[in-house]
Amino acid sequence: MIGEVKVYLRFLKDVVGIEYMRGAEDNKKTESLQELKREVEECNRCPLFRTRTHVVFGEGNEDAEIMFVGEAPGREEDMSGRPFVGKAGKLMDEVFEKIGLKREEVYIANCIKCRPPENRNPRPEELLMCFPYLERQIEIIEPRTIVCLGKFATQQLTGSMLSISILRGKTMRYRDVTVIPTFHPAYLLRNPQAIDAFKDDLIKAMNI
Ligand code: URA
Repeated sequence: MIGEVKVYLRFLKDVVGIEYMRGAEDNKKTESLQELKREVEECNRCPLFRTRTHVVFGEGNEDAEIMFVGEAPGREEDMSGRPFVGKAGKLMDEVFEKIGLKREEVYIANCIKCRPPENRNPRPEELLMCFPYLERQIEIIEPRTIVCLGKFATQQLTGSMLSISILRGKTMRYRDVTVIPTFHPAYLLRNPQAIDAFKDDLIKAMNI
């Protein structure tokens, strides 16, 4: 029933141009996210809690229709406590600007909430320990589409072990949410020829 009401409200917003006001249900969303954030900030489920400066919980629009999921915080993110604020994030912001997408409209999170030392790849046990937090973020935000940035997010949410170069361009699913697998912005820094494909994927996500 709630799902049908949400679809109707989205119809009103997209087709008729009427946006509903935030109500009690939305305040519950804010509270649930804050509660989860407090829990993650105290997390010591894996050894990464010893080396982190800040937990990078995620941020953005709690009513986002598009949610971005990256891999793990890097140095700048660990320092600031905010996702995608380093070079890769700046590149992502540039692409957002080109296609008319605003950071305030979306929600950005990572598979792993604490920085792996020296930006090494997340370990399977770290991904496993952190996954329930990401699952709860998705449950609370209820995005229409999740853009998976790179192989770790794609593998974690879709279960597919295929490489991102094979999965990119496909439309997948995580529960009842559409998943768009795409390149990680850090890959785009090294391979700028892939930026157009990334841009196309984001446009696809916006049009769902
Ligand atoms: N790379 C990620 O995957 N996440 C960030 O927040 C920053 C860089």
